[in-house]
Amino acid sequence: MPTVDAFDRPLRNLRLSVTDRCNLRCSYCMPEDEYVWLPKDKILSFEELARVVDVFLSLGVDRVRLTGGEPLLRRGLPELVRQIASKPGVTDVAMTTNGIRLADHAEALARAGLSRVTVSLDTLREDRFRALTRRDELPQVLAGIEAARTAGFAGSKLDTVVMRGVNDDELVPLLEYAKTVGYEVRFIEYMDVGGATRWSMADVVSREEMLATLSGHYGPIERVVEDSSAPADRYALPDGTVFGIISSTTAPFCSTCDRSRLTADGMWYLCLYAKLGLDLRAPLRGGATIEELAALLKRTWSGRTDRGAEERLAMHDRTALAQRDELRANPHLEMHKRGG
Ligand code: GTP
Ligand code: 5AD
Ligand code: SF4
Repeated sequence: MPTVDAFDRPLRNLRLSVTDRCNLRCSYCMPEDEYVWLPKDKILSFEELARVVDVFLSLGVDRVRLTGGEPLLRRGLPELVRQIASKPGVTDVAMTTNGIRLADHAEALARAGLSRVTVSLDTLREDRFRALTRRDELPQVLAGIEAARTAGFAGSKLDTVVMRGVNDDELVPLLEYAKTVGYEVRFIEYMDVGGATRWSMADVVSREEMLATLSGHYGPIERVVEDSSAPADRYALPDGTVFGIISSTTAPFCSTCDRSRLTADGMWYLCLYAKLGLDLRAPLRGGATIEELAALLKRTWSGRTDRGAEERLAMHDRTALAQRDELRANPHLEMHKRGG
């Protein structure tokens, strides 16, 4: 029996942030000059993470995604992948990465059993990449994308956060690039999540607008009909190329949301927008058994009524979810702590 919440949504997808550190400073995620980092001794070890995964598996989770910050900044990550991928009941172990270190690790990750990678790529132009991320590493990212392809991952994706006046003229070039490397692009509406302190509705390019731009260039675009809880709606170009749009800002998928997220220091959040989380590190380090932890999670998930993105959509005068001072006081609100 799956563990379901108050709206009958099963607990299936676990997003594990393995570090809150990142080697980029994307303007939609980490726009500030300074951040409060998690203390080392609070970060869960691989053994602790593997134990937490066992608890989630016992409740019906079968998909695990490693995120960050940038997950490849965590030393020895392939070993964690190996431990998770070898567990019975895990059908998918994926990773969301900015790609900078991917060329160095793609083969080891593939050997360890990683199913697929999602690489964030917002622009193909070096000057823009530098402006958007405050680092000069586009060639490394592109090399990482190639290396993952060579390592044999199937079903890999590129994530593009589309921002007005920043990269909204690159939809076609990004799609064309994705075709050449065999990845599926997902265009993501800019979200007002924690971290995006400079968010404004005026900067959001909606799904409708993206589709209008793309059909203006390519001709009629067909919706791919599928029954899925994934965040992306998928579309096909006239030549059959499939891409996705994640419209969490203008058309959220809360009603089918089966995901939760654990920060690197063991805080469990039932919603990307949730202000409160549940500390799993304390019981984990306090010697709680797998069964005790499972009972705690089950109780908590059963009462879940979160529908953060839908609530945001209903707001008038929507501004960023959190301001700088609030994030400094409660860094767990940050997107780079929650792993998206
Ligand atoms: P798959 O569909 O399994 O490939 O993964 P994914 O799309 O969940 O993963 P990814 O890390 O690539 O996330 C893509 C985008 O979806 C990011 O912009 C996330 O912020 C957004 N997203 C991920 N999880 C959630 C969520 O729980 N709620 C909302 N509203 N958006 C999410
Ligand atoms: N809006 C939309 N997507 C975001 N991400 C990070 N911050 C935002 C935001 N404000 C994305 C990253 C990555 C994924 C984990 O979340 O680009 O692809
Ligand atoms: Fe799930 Fe919350 Fe995201 Fe809605 S906003 S899809 S409930 S995590």
